[in-house]
This record gives sequence, structure tokens and C-alpha cells, in this order.
Amino acid sequence: MPRQLFVTTALPYANGNFHIGHIMEYIQADIWVRFQRMQGNAVNFVGADDTHGAPIMIAAEKAGVTPEQFVANIAAGRKQYLDGFHISFDNWHSTHSPENTELARQIYRDLRDRADGSLIEVRTIEQFFDPAKNMFLPDRYIKGECPKCHAKDQYGDNCEVCGSVYAPTDLINPFSALSGAKPELKNSEHFFFKLSDPRCVEFLENWTQGPDETGKPRLQPEVANKIKEWFSVRTNPDGTTSEGLGDWDISRDAPYFGIEIPDAPGKYFYVWLDAPVGYLASLKNWFDKGGPKTKHGDTRSFDEYMAAADTEQYHFIGKDIVTFHTLFWPAMLKFSGRKTPNNVFVHGFLTVNNGEKMSKSRGTGLDPLKYLSLGMNAEWLRYYLAAKLSNRNEDIDFNADDFMLRVNSDLIGKFVNIASRAAGFLTKRFDGKLTSDFGTQGSALLAEIRGASGALAANFEAREYSKATREVMLLADKVNAYVDQNKPWDLAKDVANNEALHQVCSVLINAFDALSRYLAPVLPGLAQAVQSFVGRPMDTWAVAGDVQAIQPYQHLMQRVTPEQLDALFEPKEPLAPAEPAQAAPKKVAKSAPAAIPADPNAPGGEALAPTISIDDFAKIDLRIAKIVNCEAVEGSTKLLRLTLDVGEKNAEGQPTTRNVFSGIASMYKPEELVGQLTVLVANLAPRKMKFGMSEGMVMAASHADEGANPGIYILNPWPGAQPGMRIH
Ligand code: 2FM
Ligand code: ZN
Repeated sequence: MPRQLFVTTALPYANGNFHIGHIMEYIQADIWVRFQRMQGNAVNFVGADDTHGAPIMIAAEKAGVTPEQFVANIAAGRKQYLDGFHISFDNWHSTHSPENTELARQIYRDLRDRADGSLIEVRTIEQFFDPAKNMFLPDRYIKGECPKCHAKDQYGDNCEVCGSVYAPTDLINPFSALSGAKPELKNSEHFFFKLSDPRCVEFLENWTQGPDETGKPRLQPEVANKIKEWFSVRTNPDGTTSEGLGDWDISRDAPYFGIEIPDAPGKYFYVWLDAPVGYLASLKNWFDKGGPKTKHGDTRSFDEYMAAADTEQYHFIGKDIVTFHTLFWPAMLKFSGRKTPNNVFVHGFLTVNNGEKMSKSRGTGLDPLKYLSLGMNAEWLRYYLAAKLSNRNEDIDFNADDFMLRVNSDLIGKFVNIASRAAGFLTKRFDGKLTSDFGTQGSALLAEIRGASGALAANFEAREYSKATREVMLLADKVNAYVDQNKPWDLAKDVANNEALHQVCSVLINAFDALSRYLAPVLPGLAQAVQSFVGRPMDTWAVAGDVQAIQPYQHLMQRVTPEQLDALFEPKEPLAPAEPAQAAPKKVAKSAPAAIPADPNAPGGEALAPTISIDDFAKIDLRIAKIVNCEAVEGSTKLLRLTLDVGEKNAEGQPTTRNVFSGIASMYKPEELVGQLTVLVANLAPRKMKFGMSEGMVMAASHADEGANPGIYILNPWPGAQPGMRIH
């Protein structure tokens, strides 16, 4: 009987691009989903952007755009990552959507209006309020002096210097990180989900600690153990102790970018209330588009699908968001009268090169887009991660040397090369046709390989991908031992051995066909190429009969090179300290190519500069810069002094800024520019000016005939660009 699966990954905040941790989670889930599809199961695999909350609202304000525009810009950048790493989501949506608004409100009403007693309670709480911004401040936007070690400029919930945990009200001389104003304590009505209610506690203890619908322990043991702590007496961050599960504050006051709570004007759902509802919203959106796969054709509505006993619901998440997914989310669903998830699959974090923060030779982190832009094969990464992932939530490390070894020696050396060892002989000597007479040894080998199907399927089902890939490599070792014993290259020397050669090569191709199918969830692109090569589908786990014929072999996969890895981890080129910034940007802008005569008919009053090559252009390092400070220059009517954040750090890893003079004082007031992004020519040599060193040049546009067309306009990138990003 095919199964009907609804699968999600955690919804990423729409305040930045995907990082390698997101990609790892998506690859982990995608492998599982592809495996399930190969089993003939009906899968709906969806994701969405998590768009709400104060940080996104504040980031949008800083960028000078609406939150809607801000999150739309982020959403526009998602596809290149998902396609690039072969992540096969059926649908991608947003928590800022009509479906999510409707569903979140309905779930809330269902919790509030329960016939056996409401699970929503309104309470008045005291909170810090920013009188300048006219808003209540989330803890992370309150700063002050640590009450323990007296370090300055610490966040409202914990001290980064001494590590102590406290309440924002404990801070000495607190101030708003948004406006600098001294926050006031103010009362506000908040809405709470009464998780401490015995109905919730009993349900959650059973759901987290008890067996799942099939009778097996539901949660991974380490996850269940961690969650157990919530049911006993515990110490809160502020030092008080709580008996068991506490109630959950699900509301925030306006202004807030979120979903307004029904019948409560000016109150919004806390982002974590509507975020997981986004799973359902994305699925509903997928239903409305007519896309979903169900076992029952197209006859089921979204509501029927979600209520059906045979719909299984699984969430892939990281270990940092376990409480939301194993306590709050199941309780929201259960007590709003909905089916609860079947399981939550928790993974650990990905560290890079042993979690080195910054290494001189290897740089920092692993940038997924840089990986792709270097022409590195996404399937290398998929294979490498599969080779490391288990169903535990322990952290895994991306190690560059280990990566090269596993890709080149295992994936290519042991597995991919099997095909090339046989294909040439079959094409040249047997017109690409295979025999099904495999001989005793060949038959035994194929029987062993094909017989591993069940055990391998069990490993994929259990998300034990490292076991699965190890098993496939052990089988590949046996195939290579068979090649070494039977030596097709020797057999090929004498036509009298034709039959044996045909047999050996046919065994190899059939072995390759089986191993490719086992790795198809991990290597979907390769599987597609193998499908053309062996002339039979690679999208089902079980296949009857043998390969009949092959197409001429085409190289299936390149090796990774040390140069690629070096380039991947190359520290961001230190932005060369720059030459003179300009007294007036205009002059410098015109100084690059040789003097260009003014031409009233030409665009902007000047003819285009002579054509340059891409290499010429690449010499100019243009970077996004954030103007963190701007002031008038005493003694100059033209210049402004800009302090720019270009994402740079010094040798100690501390952020640094640049000082740049720009001749734009006639156009801009210093305070207008603070907080804006602009574009810096970052590798001009620094220039000593009368007022100090200028470390680069801010780009600005102006007309050649300044008299007739006055005005100098600095460039302002589209929101979403971050300080330090290079302009290509
Ligand atoms: O931790 C995070 O990145 C959250 N945006 C995850 C949300 S998962 C789900 F609840 F939406
Ligand atoms: Zn401290």
C-alpha cells in the first residue's frame, strides 16, 4: 500500500540568504523525500519563508522599504539555491500570506473557544517600552550594563562577556538598541497559550515520551530526554524556578510585522505562533494550485487530506528549535482539534573545517552560492553530507580534505568508474548489447547486490544515510574486486574470450545499475544520466529484469580538485587599502579612462568610454558599503566624511570600518546618509588628503555638464544587499 506523506523543513527567516546549514537540512530532507517517491509513496514536500517578527520589521525599516518588499526581495533569491542543490520542494510559500493568516487565526479561535474550557488566557505583564520609537522592546533590543560583571553594551537576556543570564529589568542603565532612549516599564495585555493546563501536560508527556502511531518510540532518544526536562521543576533564565511546563506568551503589541489576533486590535501573534502554521499554509497553497499528490487522486480537499488517518506528517528541523516543534506545535494542533505530526526529525549543526572560526589558509564558512559559482558539483556535497548523516542529532563537520577523499576515492573511484570499466568494451565489441548469462561468480555478485535492496531501503527510511552509503561502497568494493579478478582488459586481448568478456562487462553494468538506483535519492542528477545510459528508469526503487543494452558511455562525473577547495575557502580577499578617494567623486569618475570630451548628445553628456574586457572590469573591486556614520568636514564645503562598514575584520576578527571622503556635501545632509547602503570602489589605493586618509571611493552619478545639470547622486543598492558583498 503506498503511503501518503506530508514533509517539511524548518521555514527560514526571510532576513537573509540561505547559509550552508539551511542547505544541509534541505539535502537531508530531500534525500528522504526522493527515497519515498522511489518507493511509490505520494509525497508533498513543502517549504516557505518565515517572514514575521520584530527583527525583520526593524531590518526593513533600516533598509528603507516596507517589510512586505523586504521579504519579497529575499524570496526572490531562493530559487538559485534550491535548483542548484537539486532540492525538490513541491511548493515554496510564505507565512505572510492569506492562507497563513486564515489558518493561524482559525487555530487560535479553536484553542480559545474550546467547549471544555478555553486554553487562551489574557494577562497583564510589565515590559520595557521605547518612548522614542513608541513600541515595546523585545529582549534583544534592550541593552545596558551587565549586573554581574558590569560589562557595557550587553543584551537584555544574557551577558556575552561573563555569560550570566538575567532579565532585561536587571540591566544597569538600560537603553533601547533601536533609538538609544531609556526604556520605561509599561503594562500591556498579553495572550497566553495555557500549556500548563493538565490537558496539555498530559498530552505532551505522552506525545513526546510515548510511542508513535506504529508503537515505536516517537522522538529520537536524545530529543525525548531533553524535552523531559520541561515536565519537571526547572530554573528559569531569571533564576526563579518553575513547576513543569509554563504558559506560552503568544502575543506582541503593535507595531509588529505579523498577523493581527482576532478580536484584539493592535495585538499580533508572536512570530513563533504563525511560523509552523506556515507548513500548513504552504500545503494549502499547493492544493489551491492543484498540485498535490495523494493516494486518492485529486478528490481530496486540503482539509480532508490533513484530517485523513493515512496522511503522515513529518518535520525536519535543527536541534535549536526542538521545543517549538515538540511542545508548542503539537499542542496547537491537538487542542485546536487537528491531527498532530507523526514525527519531528532533528539534526545537529554543520561545522566547517572543524568549526574553525577563521583560518588563514581556508577562510571562514562554506558559502553555498560560491560553491556553485566555482562550478563545484552539487552532488559532491549531497554525497558527502549523506556519507556523514545519521538519524542522531549530533553535529557533523565539513572537512575539506575528507570531502576530497570521499568524493574522489569513494564516489568516483569506487562507484562511478565501474561503468567506464565496462562500457567501452560493450559498445565496441557487442554493439552495446548485454547478455543475461552472468556466469556463476557474476550471478552470485549480482544476487548479493540486488539482495541488499531491503536493508538499504530500511537505512534510508530510518535516515541512516551514512550506513546506506557505507553499504553501497562496500558493494562497490566487491564489484571492483570482481573486475580485478576477471581483468576485462586482458580478456579483450583475445577474441576467443569474447563470451567471458561479454559476461564480465554485463555483470558490471548491471551492478552499476543497481548501485546507481540505491544512490539515486542522494545523486538525482547522476541517476538521470545513468537512466539514459542503461535505458531504463531510475525513479523506482524496485526494478525487474536486467539491463538489455547501453548507450555509448559519456563521462558521468568530474573529480573535485584541491584548487576548487582552496578557492572555496579562500579568505575573502582583503579589500586592498585604497588609493585616493576623490575630493569630488565626479573628477575621479572621469579620471579612469582618458579624457572623454563633453558631448551634449551623448548619454549623461559624455560619450561611452572605450570597450574593456571582463578581466579589466574584474580589476575594480566594487563592494556594498553601509554608511555607519557621516559628518561634515570642517574647512570644506564640498566634502563629507563617511565611515563605512564593508564587512571587513582585522586580524583579531574584530569588525573594522573605513574612512572615506566624498564630495557630496552639496547634495546630502550627513544624517540622511547614516544607515544607508552604497557602493564603494574598495581597491583604490588609499590617498592622503588634507583632512586625513581616504580609503576608497564612493560611487556617484553626475552629468558631464555640471553647470547645466547640477547634482551628484550616490548609488543606493536594492535592499537585501549586505555590507561587503561584491558587485559583479
Ligand atoms: O529558527 C528559525 O530559523 C525559524 N525561522 C524556524 C521556523 S520553523 C517553522 F516553525 F516555521
Ligand atoms: Zn557580565
